[in-house]
Amino acid sequence: MAARLSAVPTGARVVSQSHLRTVVVLAAGEGKRMKSALPKVLHPLLGRTLVGHVLAAAAPLAADRTVVVVGHGADQVRAHLAEIAPQATPVLQAEQLGTGHAVRIALDAASDATGTVVVINGDVPLLRPETVAALVEAHEGENAAATVLAAEVPDPTGLGRIVRDAGGRLERIVEERDASAAQRAIREINAGIYAFDVTRLRDALGKLSTDNDQGEEYLTDVFGLLVSAGEPVAVHVAADHVETLGCNDRVELAALRRLLRDRVNEAWMRTGVSLLDPDTTWIDVTVALDRDAVVDQNTQLRGGTVVGTGAVVGPDVTLVDTVVGPGATVLRSHAVGAEVGPGATVGPYAYLRPDARLAEKAKVGTFVEVKNSEVGAGAKVPHLSYVGDATIGAKANIGAATIFVNYDGVNKHRTTVGEAAFIGCDTSLIAPVEVGAGAYVAAGSAISQDVPPGALGVTRAPQRSIDGWVARKRPGTASAEAAERAGRAGEGVSARAAGASEGEAIHGDAEAVRPASGAGDTATE
Ligand code: UD1
Ligand code: CA
Repeated sequence: MAARLSAVPTGARVVSQSHLRTVVVLAAGEGKRMKSALPKVLHPLLGRTLVGHVLAAAAPLAADRTVVVVGHGADQVRAHLAEIAPQATPVLQAEQLGTGHAVRIALDAASDATGTVVVINGDVPLLRPETVAALVEAHEGENAAATVLAAEVPDPTGLGRIVRDAGGRLERIVEERDASAAQRAIREINAGIYAFDVTRLRDALGKLSTDNDQGEEYLTDVFGLLVSAGEPVAVHVAADHVETLGCNDRVELAALRRLLRDRVNEAWMRTGVSLLDPDTTWIDVTVALDRDAVVDQNTQLRGGTVVGTGAVVGPDVTLVDTVVGPGATVLRSHAVGAEVGPGATVGPYAYLRPDARLAEKAKVGTFVEVKNSEVGAGAKVPHLSYVGDATIGAKANIGAATIFVNYDGVNKHRTTVGEAAFIGCDTSLIAPVEVGAGAYVAAGSAISQDVPPGALGVTRAPQRSIDGWVARKRPGTASAEAAERAGRAGEGVSARAAGASEGEAIHGDAEAVRPASGAGDTATE
């Protein structure tokens, strides 16, 4: 599958490398209110976990070291980090004694850290790389001892407040539960994202007390301590408070998902992608779309999905890790790990499973499932088929209700259908088997032996018609009455068959079978 790096455009850039930097992500908390077996930071949000978003926001800092403090669900979080950020060092905080304690443990594990330490709460997934970069650049530019990211929010409930003195300088950060009524009225909050000078941070962390409502070591108290010591501290105000929103329960998670959806969708529309109904279009941040792609309503694009220029996807489509080529169409379908070639068409109601690969202008139509198979250029599987472990040549035509019988109960086997072969309707291709180039298979056949190129494969029992059967066995039914009206209740059916009209089945041997009409009527468009 084509690997693409150009995910949702963020405008992020690598921050100047004049300083050594350590990133510390705090992810040891339980997230009680999520009421989940999954640690909070592992909950997914449009293509990344919460902690994955935070690590992505910090990535442009090009830190020398990234430490993630883990605690609740440590094994799960470690396993996830090994997958998404193998360069990060997980550090265990066995007991969650507060954010200050967590940072102290992180710095113990990074004892040689110098320069800037960037601390980010693990549950702020909407944070943008640009904002982290601006915070760090402001901090380093001012040679501050500590800089906190703040935001004016409509509802500050539960958050730490930025307390400023008469001159507007930061005095301290106070947690809501420790705040006075006057302090609670402050709407400027601590976003939980900071930059510190490591030496002065270590010094202040050593002086933290647990003299607060929760009996915890608060990282936020570092600011008051530094101010008292006459050290320069700064506040960097986020341009958009939405970026600082944390996530404490699943209602908030859903709200964040909608906000991120809107941000992602807007970014794609501004790059020239048409989203016909952005409110029902959910695009993971890891997806890539080319200009003039069209995404219709009720569509989810997930993981490593890529949609090429001029392709139309939707309505009612879910694509996971699927590459859709330029000019292709995918309508009311579900695909996982598939590849849809340029100009190919899929659906309505198709299911593409891993390693379904459709070449240029191939067609996979209605109620067709394809798995681990190549459908050649211009080949068609228009209706009601299962294609598993198959190689279908270019321009082959697979009639309705063809089943690639790939599984013998123990092993899977492959079927090969040659270029421009023609498979009649309701055929079973019993693998391993090969239908040669340009060969035909008669409708209704069960093919278990290879069909040579250009031959006709047919396995069909001769048809019998038992005259008068309905009149004798189903008297009085609508069928019997209809037959009677047709004047054929008793006789003459076989005789008529001799001069059968187009499309009518004929009994007889292989030479008499006419697959081109019997198969073709439903095998093509
Ligand atoms: C914290 C800030 C608050 C700020 C808010 C922003 C403190 C004392 N308060 O409050 O001022 O407005 O974030 O969202 O820092 N964690 C650990 N180990 C611990 C405790 C927490 O790793 O011992 C992690 C949590 O997993 C979480 C982050 O630190 O990712 C913040 O902890 P949380 O308990 O959510 O702090 P808040 O009460 O939200
Ligand atoms: Ca929190």
